[in-house]
Amino acid sequence: MNIRLRLHHLAIAAGLVVSSTLLPAQAQTAPVKVGLVLSLTGPFASTGKQIESGARLYLAQHGDVAAGRKIEFVIKDDGGVPDQAKRMAQEMVVNDKVDVLGGFVLTPLALAVAPIATQGKTPAIVMSAGTSSVIDASPYFVRVSFTLPQNSVGVAEWAPKNGIKNVVTLVSDYGPGIDAEVSFKKRFEARGGVVKEAIRVPVRNPDFSPFLQKVRDEKPDAVFVFLPAGVGTQFMKQFAARGLDKAGIRLIGTGDVTEDDILNDMGDVAMGVVTSHHYSAAHPSPENQAFVEAFKKANGGKRPNYMAVAGYDGMRVLVHALKATQGKGGEALLNAMKGQSFDSPRGPVEIDAQTRDIVQNVYIRRVERKDGELYNVEFDVMKAVRDPGRGN
Ligand code: PHB
Repeated sequence: MNIRLRLHHLAIAAGLVVSSTLLPAQAQTAPVKVGLVLSLTGPFASTGKQIESGARLYLAQHGDVAAGRKIEFVIKDDGGVPDQAKRMAQEMVVNDKVDVLGGFVLTPLALAVAPIATQGKTPAIVMSAGTSSVIDASPYFVRVSFTLPQNSVGVAEWAPKNGIKNVVTLVSDYGPGIDAEVSFKKRFEARGGVVKEAIRVPVRNPDFSPFLQKVRDEKPDAVFVFLPAGVGTQFMKQFAARGLDKAGIRLIGTGDVTEDDILNDMGDVAMGVVTSHHYSAAHPSPENQAFVEAFKKANGGKRPNYMAVAGYDGMRVLVHALKATQGKGGEALLNAMKGQSFDSPRGPVEIDAQTRDIVQNVYIRRVERKDGELYNVEFDVMKAVRDPGRGN
């Protein structure tokens, strides 16, 4: 073989060597794309923004590279409209080729996205949508948020032990509200309470006055409330304006109604309200104190609520799953998300490997003033609660 030919062969061999080492390396170092479908405009925009800020904070604190792959967001605003959420998720899977989906502020949005996750075999991290059945809508769903039955049973147990024997329930008329109503009633009545009346109010732009008048007429010991995050301020104003607090009707509920994003603006009417929930910005753990401080610093002093925690923990679950699969996506990534347990700012949590749903503490809290600000101060806990909605 002449020298030129030998060089040529060598070059090809070298090229082959180079490309055969480069190819897998390239595959492993391609960015991981995370498609967040969030409501960033419309009545639920505050929730979308909290989730996004929480997700960004996790990567800012822990680095945005896992198993050699950079984590990049593709974020789209669904405006709270299910058809939009579905179209956006589809674009993300087909055009952007995202490795993971996430977000879904409202139950109907998660349900709209479910078939896209299933068809695309794309793991999807549910960061809000809290209706029990959401998790069954796709085998690719993993939930890091909460379920309404989880957050309803705590106060249903607390109330009858604390002088509340009869209650009117008032919930938003859609999946999570109905889950809250049903699971509260079941547990409260099993403990000797009576639900006198169950009121359902429209999800969008509700005028609470006629419903609150009805509650007043019933004269219950308390009204149990579920309203999605961001809506509570309006309710509280009308509760006070209708004089329900003066009439001696106590307010209890899931923690959505006194959530941290809006609580401080509610004023004295919120004082003493008892709710059960999985997260309070006042949760007294070092993890949470560091989380709240870092979140405020990164977001102009804004306080994180439970949606921010879900965005944060969602990224935690993703990063640890990527490390476990050495950067592989798809089914392997989904499997590596299942069964994770860790210390969240909310306390210890686990992603149940069978149900793909979150198992977490549910705290009983009372609104109190601390250092001049209103907080949900935890005073009791039900530990490691699995979604009680599954048994309903
Ligand atoms: C829901 O639509 O599932 C949902 C949204 C906001 C909440 C709770 C549940 O605070």
